[in-house]
Amino acid sequence: MGHRPYIVGNWKMNGTRNSLAEARAIDRVASKWPQVRVGIAPPHTLIHAMRDAVDSIDVGGQDCHSETDGAYTGDISAAMLKDAGASFAILGHSERRQYHGETNPQVKAKCEAALGAGLSVILCVGETEEQRDSGEAESTVSGQLTSCLPEIAVEEEGESVSARLAIAYEPIWAIGTGRVPSLDEIKAMHASIRAKLVDTFGENGNEVRILYGGSVKADNALEILSCDEVGGALVGGASLTNESFGAIIIAA
Ligand code: G3P
Repeated sequence: MGHRPYIVGNWKMNGTRNSLAEARAIDRVASKWPQVRVGIAPPHTLIHAMRDAVDSIDVGGQDCHSETDGAYTGDISAAMLKDAGASFAILGHSERRQYHGETNPQVKAKCEAALGAGLSVILCVGETEEQRDSGEAESTVSGQLTSCLPEIAVEEEGESVSARLAIAYEPIWAIGTGRVPSLDEIKAMHASIRAKLVDTFGENGNEVRILYGGSVKADNALEILSCDEVGGALVGGASLTNESFGAIIIAA
């Protein structure tokens, strides 16, 4: 696992070319803080232009198809993301699962396609409020990992593929709500995810980064990032402007 915290902005369905000025401002902050690794996943329409506009941040996609090409109107493949300038893909976000009916097997296939195309992957998992209240948070997330973790050759020509995989723990009830789990809940969930990763990938499971996502802001970022096994943050609303995202990068 890398030691630099990884702070990734998920712009969701926000941003047009006008927003590149914001990305450039974020890039300037990122260039001043090389101790922090920064990424932004803009809408697909902005990937190419954003890649050209920034130097110090990774640019990624918010989804990709599991097939390499074909009759899938409206979809894009992992190779297309890469061709547009993306280096990573966020996959299995709860909004994709909720609004597009993505299932665990589909998410797994997408992860394998993206890794196969040479992208890094941020695989999202997380429980509903109901599951948390009924004491099923850890078993829910563990079940998602069982079904979604890619079956990868962990070593490929000397390169460890697990180092290109990250898990984002995003409790659904914390997304865009201003509510966050307690630090003890975050620690317990991240420890449980780590155990599952080591169980699945052996030693290489320790290389997989685990991010926290859900209402991360400048004023709670530091305490969340200080938790054991929290290797970074996946940030939604607060990643859209340099004012808020820059402050999170500096806090990290
Ligand atoms: O992927 C990040 C996201 O779902 C969290 O959103 O707005 O709560 O930071 P937000």
